[in-house]
Amino acid sequence: MSIVTKLEHPLLQHKLTLLRNKETNSKDFRDLTKEIAMLMAYEVTREFPLEDIEIETPICKTLSKKISGKTVAIVPILRAGLGMVDGVLEIVPAAKVGHIGLYRNEETLQPVEYYLKLPKDIDKRTVIITEPMLATGGSIVAAVDLLKARGVKDIKVMSLVVAEPGAKTVEEAHPDIEIFTVGHDAELNEHGYITPGLGDAGDRLFGTK
Ligand code: URA
Repeated sequence: MSIVTKLEHPLLQHKLTLLRNKETNSKDFRDLTKEIAMLMAYEVTREFPLEDIEIETPICKTLSKKISGKTVAIVPILRAGLGMVDGVLEIVPAAKVGHIGLYRNEETLQPVEYYLKLPKDIDKRTVIITEPMLATGGSIVAAVDLLKARGVKDIKVMSLVVAEPGAKTVEEAHPDIEIFTVGHDAELNEHGYITPGLGDAGDRLFGTK
């Protein structure tokens, strides 16, 4: 079974079409990315275990459900991953947020860490990595490597669009993680952009082009 789950909810698919459209401006792109991240978080947390808790309603005591011992850390990969953080926080407000900065060494083509700040108890948390574009998969493999090296066991990735070659690379390196996406595109072009994709997510979020 593939580690990639494509979310088919009509609202998500509709909003992704708006994101893909080159006429969508930065403000709308940011708003849509946040809305999509919020809706995706609803699906990503679907399997969280529940336990009974006794509470008292205005009428009587009753057993009701609460999420069982699950604590979450959201870890955006800088910079485009930042665009998805607030959407996840909308519905998982108790989550802590860590940050990973990676750049690509142009000689070795390997991702190199330039910034890392994680919650102290990261090894006890379910980590949701946010990376809007999973292209070659190199930065996700590196991010998962460094999270696992710190004892993290439960890792989920949220991407707006995943390219098939990148998904394969991640699956080979880390078959035990889950990737959630709204778009699953076939390939990358010669410049490393996902095709059809949506362009450079960081530039479109922050208006830098
Ligand atoms: N990063 C992006 O922002 N877009 C792509 O298509 C590939 C990598």
